[in-house]
Amino acid sequence: MDKYLIEGGKRLEGRVKISGAKNSALALMPAAILNGGKSIIKNIPEVNDIFTMNKLLQHMGADLTFENHTLEINTKNLANTEAPYEHVKKMRASVYVLGPLLARYGHAKVSLPGGCAWGPRPINLHLEAIKKLGAEIELESGYIIAKSKKLIGERIHFDISSVGATGNTLMAAVLAKGSTLISNAAIEPEITLLAEYLIKMGAKISGIGTANLEIEGVDTLNDVEIENISDRIEAGTLLIAGIITNGCVELEYKNSSHLDAILSKIEETGTKIEYTDYGLQIDSRDCELKGVDVTTSIYPGFPTDMQAQWSALMSIAKGTSTVTDTIYHDRFSHVAELNRLGANIQVTNNSAVIRGVEVLKGAKVMSTDLRASASLVLAGLAAEGETEVLRIYHIDRGYQKIEDKLTQLGANIKRVSSTDY
Ligand code: EPU
Repeated sequence: MDKYLIEGGKRLEGRVKISGAKNSALALMPAAILNGGKSIIKNIPEVNDIFTMNKLLQHMGADLTFENHTLEINTKNLANTEAPYEHVKKMRASVYVLGPLLARYGHAKVSLPGGCAWGPRPINLHLEAIKKLGAEIELESGYIIAKSKKLIGERIHFDISSVGATGNTLMAAVLAKGSTLISNAAIEPEITLLAEYLIKMGAKISGIGTANLEIEGVDTLNDVEIENISDRIEAGTLLIAGIITNGCVELEYKNSSHLDAILSKIEETGTKIEYTDYGLQIDSRDCELKGVDVTTSIYPGFPTDMQAQWSALMSIAKGTSTVTDTIYHDRFSHVAELNRLGANIQVTNNSAVIRGVEVLKGAKVMSTDLRASASLVLAGLAAEGETEVLRIYHIDRGYQKIEDKLTQLGANIKRVSSTDY
């Protein structure tokens, strides 16, 4: 198992390229089941969650190549409609295959994802929506067994806005008979891209980018090629790497509007932001960081996937700030580890009160999930002395070699193999 050794206190400066978005790719890839043909998706990051989805699709019989960040998936010979526990337990997004399998084959057996490091993450909304489209669903020995004749379009309202449930329902509905209306649909950029991709395949979808999606089912879909968006969470994380080290970092990043909520909070800290030919740049070199409260919410609000990284930044900001997570109430496993580095954070219910400290001090800390591990790396970059971040397999799920990008910006971070975990 690998760990990071970080010698903190280096100011990060320079330009870095943002990789393709993991979470949009994880929706586009199973959608390739729907056309029974060829899908080419460019700008895919080389991260473990993508490799897990590749293995799952290959297990089902998809032909797949992944070279130069381009995935070519052919689902013509897909033969197996089962997503086994061994794959799903590694990654909850595997449940995205449910909608497409059911739409194309009329049956699917998908392992229930089970628990998550930060508490319950149910899939009831996925299942209820798919039932509404006419599928019969049983839960048996840890598996979702779904069967249907042709799915039939319906009106579906989500009580909670869910990225995954919207994606799954959208993929199921494109091959259903008649029209489906999804209200309170997620409007995250990952869902917008999925809808655009399905339209390129020949699906009929309107209302894209709004909370009301209308889908008119079609009988078949065609081959498709699309370019994935860049990763807004990797972008936000690297901006904070610049700010937390009082540095100046420019991102090669095309989708800056996806970062608006994060950028407006960054501006409140006193950091300068400039839009450049490559994307955008933050400059915190002459800045005394101010504490800024955030509350996570659905897009276009401040993303829960940046909450841990923001908490790391606020650990050394001036004054007291509050970070509240309204999406995942228990997503605070990074707090105890940040406190080991000298942060002063107290969590009550779904809010963390962070009293900024003068300095963090290097220590041995343990990653508990993807974004928690990113927050520990950020804190390590700012801390005095050496920080060891253990169990970095979590960060490898969603960040493409973040140590290379940070090194390029001047950080002193090394990946070493470790028996210490
Ligand atoms: N929810 C339900 N029932 C459901 C589905 C969701 O109650 O059936 C609730 C969740 O418990 C949560 C809220 O709805 O409180 C929103 O969850 P959502 O379904 O939107 O999350 P998701 O689709 O499971 C995706 C990302 C997550 C990200 C969330 C929120 C992917 C593969 N995952 O998860 O990304 O945190 O949206 O934006 O797209 C990450 O990248 O680190 C990550 C966890």
